[in-house]
Amino acid sequence: MTAIACDHAALGLKNEIIKHLQEKGYEIKDFGCYTTESVDYPDYARKVARAVADGECVNGILICGTGIGMSIAANKVKGIRCALCGDTFSARATREHNDANVLALGERVTGKGLALDIVDAFMETEFSGDARHVRRISGITAIEEEGK
Ligand code: RB5
Repeated sequence: MTAIACDHAALGLKNEIIKHLQEKGYEIKDFGCYTTESVDYPDYARKVARAVADGECVNGILICGTGIGMSIAANKVKGIRCALCGDTFSARATREHNDANVLALGERVTGKGLALDIVDAFMETEFSGDARHVRRISGITAIEEEGK
């Protein structure tokens, strides 16, 4: 199950991504928002990040105007490695190298066609498992453990 959420600035792209992924057979849990009424992106970043961190969903996608606020907020949740991507190379690399478990996108930045390609790259790429990448991710976790 993939968790997804957006704020009011990204409802259109979220709905396109849900349709695209469902057509490919992915199971999606939509955490909102559901209208263009103004909302605060941290509330939605938290819902998706918690669902992934708690194991309810295997990964997540967050979309706001730029993707920046969503990515900053999601990365505050322990165990979340959220990558803001505007190109497919970065989407593949962040899965292979960083084992990113949440993808952030900006609807005001990235067009629909490219956004769907980025989503595909993120969903279809596995973590490489190379020792050097495992070590570096452990380094990220160690920073989290410092807790300050
Ligand atoms: C909303 O206006 C906008 O600030 C939000 O969607 C996002 O871009 C924040 O990072």
